Amino acid sequence: MKRRSFLKMSGLSLGSAITSGSAIGLIATSGCKKDFRMGLMTVPVPVSEGNFSKPLSYPIQAGSNFTITAQSTTANLKGANIPVLGYQPKSLLGPSFKINKGETVNILLQNNLSEHTNIHWHGLKIPALMDGHPDQLANAGGTFRYQFTVNQRAGLSWYHPHPHEHTGKQVFQGLAGLFIINDAEEASLNLPSDQYELPLIIQDKRITENGITYNPTMEEIMAGYMGDSILVNGIYSPFTNVSTRFYRLRILNGSNARIYNLALSNYADMVIIGNDGGLLNKPSAVKEILIAPGERLDVLVNFAGITIGTEIFLLSKEFSNGGSAQGKQEFKIMKFKVSNNVMDTFSLPTNLSSIASVPTSSVVKTRTFEISNAMEHHGYPMNNGMQMRHRINGILFDSNRIDVGVSANTNEIWVFDNSAGDEPHPMHLHGVFFQVIQRNGGRASLIASETGWKDTVLVMEGERVSVIVPFENNKGKYVFHCHNLEHEDDGMMLQYQLS
Ligand code: C2O
Ligand code: CU
Ligand code: CU
Repeated sequence: MKRRSFLKMSGLSLGSAITSGSAIGLIATSGCKKDFRMGLMTVPVPVSEGNFSKPLSYPIQAGSNFTITAQSTTANLKGANIPVLGYQPKSLLGPSFKINKGETVNILLQNNLSEHTNIHWHGLKIPALMDGHPDQLANAGGTFRYQFTVNQRAGLSWYHPHPHEHTGKQVFQGLAGLFIINDAEEASLNLPSDQYELPLIIQDKRITENGITYNPTMEEIMAGYMGDSILVNGIYSPFTNVSTRFYRLRILNGSNARIYNLALSNYADMVIIGNDGGLLNKPSAVKEILIAPGERLDVLVNFAGITIGTEIFLLSKEFSNGGSAQGKQEFKIMKFKVSNNVMDTFSLPTNLSSIASVPTSSVVKTRTFEISNAMEHHGYPMNNGMQMRHRINGILFDSNRIDVGVSANTNEIWVFDNSAGDEPHPMHLHGVFFQVIQRNGGRASLIASETGWKDTVLVMEGERVSVIVPFENNKGKYVFHCHNLEHEDDGMMLQYQLS
């Protein structure tokens, strides 16, 4: 179904963003007028909520020796068995790896797809040849063995395919999974665990009886590909029963492009205790929090004192600065049904960890990356066909070109400049964690989840965000890119060489 007729059927107005006729045609003949570009990029994909009657479940857990098989399979979605991609038969997603700091993992990827794939371990500091660089592929029918030692603090990382120009499709159709690292520091806090620790992979999909469709139009490449159905752990519109106590929600935004502004329907606090790189120094209570594709949140939620039978929803609220396709609608993601009275002995610690700020005086180099993609400011060639591509510093990904040379064991400041841009870009670096030091323009400040260590940072329209990156010693070639997977596949990805 075409976007325009879909919107009509949903009874929503297109607003003024889109003009009649072919927006692409307009661009091709119009020169670089921003108005026309806006017209091309910009329709939200409305979410249609289900009835929250299907129980939430969780991916199986796996340890350090495991074979995962990328395959075409089926999953039960919206009451029908439909074709999807998975890392195991009969479901979306793959196992959640649970690994202790210091362990060596040995994971064999068996590629039973009809095209190449690979696995990027998003949030792991591992050797370049194990990182799932787009050059390091398992051909159709082939394998790739991932072996590495996990030498980093506890946190929620994840994994997904990274074959250039196919990442968006393979992730959207079902390939992704969690990688949870435990360590003694985290264990000593006695955070809610077992049935009180809920991993939640939030994704939007387009579900038809023929499968999860992925066929982005030019305008959907510009905005990112979004779905109308919200899944948690591969389940559409789920609910879970909860007890009257603290829960630990470990949230991944595994969507291609959709940003969520998470909140609880009872306006209760969400206590942010961790992010991409593990625990923060201190808990921080918020009423709503943004999470962009690729980002993770570690959140404590307290259901104590709530009447049995109460239903509370995890929502995505409206938000601003998200360009013309994001943040326009509030919708429900999943339901918590308070169903069991228990005594809770957990009390929220005042300190979680002690992360020192990387001193700016240690920085050897500051680099600025222009990510606005505002063509009128950069004189990109507009005269030979369709030039609406997402770039960094005006250039497209080329795996034969090193864009940035970095010296091992040095600290740098990287600035992502979207000040002239009009869409959000979650920027992600492979192989490192960084600290966010400043945001100018747009929201003009850091949010609660932007202390501590990050590997992905959201740069909204009009924003300029600086991060300080301690590069370590895993020498080799790594990519960095926008984690809007359509932007990434479109070429909004460069490479740094650590040497
Ligand atoms: Cu999760 Cu290169 O990305
Ligand atoms: Cu990554
Ligand atoms: Cu982007």
